[in-house]
Amino acid sequence: MRMSTTMIGALSITATLFASAAPVWADGEVNIYSYRQPDLIQPLLDAFTKETGITTNVLFLDKGLVERIQAEGANSPADVILTVDISRLTEAKDAGVTQPVANETINKDIPAHFRDPDGNWFGLTTRGRVVYASKERVTENDITYEELADPKWKGKICTRDGQHSYNIGLFASMVAHHGEAEAEKWLTGLRNNLAKKPDGGDRDQAKAILAGECDLAIGNTYYVGLMMTNEKEPEQKEWAAAIKVLFPNSKDRGTHVNISGMALAKNAPNKDNAIKLMEFLSEGEAQKIYAEQVFEYPVLPGAEPSEIVKSFGTIKPDTLPLADIAANRKKASELVDKVGYNDGPQD
Ligand SMILES: [Fe+2]
Repeated sequence: MRMSTTMIGALSITATLFASAAPVWADGEVNIYSYRQPDLIQPLLDAFTKETGITTNVLFLDKGLVERIQAEGANSPADVILTVDISRLTEAKDAGVTQPVANETINKDIPAHFRDPDGNWFGLTTRGRVVYASKERVTENDITYEELADPKWKGKICTRDGQHSYNIGLFASMVAHHGEAEAEKWLTGLRNNLAKKPDGGDRDQAKAILAGECDLAIGNTYYVGLMMTNEKEPEQKEWAAAIKVLFPNSKDRGTHVNISGMALAKNAPNKDNAIKLMEFLSEGEAQKIYAEQVFEYPVLPGAEPSEIVKSFGTIKPDTLPLADIAANRKKASELVDKVGYNDGPQD
């Protein structure tokens, strides 16, 4: 079986240049424009190629995916969009770079609340935005997001950039649950509890806990599994070993979750094979890879998370509709600026 997958690294040229610089890929292959890290999706694509013989090509972008597809217009080679975050999926739909898919297999696999009613995007996995707590210095075994603003944690909390989509999703859920004024108070309290200016990715916050720079951090569930099993950078195992996972609000409304997902690009030149890939990603084998190798929660009913993820405890997901999170995203982003979250702690 062919396993060839072309990878093109992150590109930094502005989107408008791409209309003429679009990669040339062969007919019948599936071209993926991805915000997801190549190493996370590669095991899935390898399994797809092994089963179908269809070659995939990945263009990884860290920003400007929608703008690029718009700039490429009718000649865009994009077939499938892979991304994380409900807001990015809805952004792609709203920008008109997707097309609806009505597919029996996909609709049977993916529960209705994890997909666009019009079929323009589909959730493939969920992930919790949890609290990483120092095993050594934190005795608490449960916590709420609200408590992260309690002055008892002053100088003890680390997070990544407040404007990152993972934090915006969480902050938007706080706006949806408490209203804008309460959410602002909360975010100000959280900012006051920061140990330092927000920086790095979620894994860096676990590293900072190991270094004793903070006691609590906010991070996604799957990074814990990725750190625990990281053979390429084995020091990450030590970062993971320094923390325990607390599922916030598990005694009341539940833990904030977001999704990763897929969409069919509007002008997909290889539509039939693209839909085959989309079917594949929604079915048992791929959902198992998402669980076992990417450490996410599969959306396929009955598919289990990995043993490692189960070892963190049971997640009770907040049932706030994803659409409500997306709808409050702009307000959340404004609050981050308003309270000066990224300036770090203030007296
Ligand atoms: Fe991530």
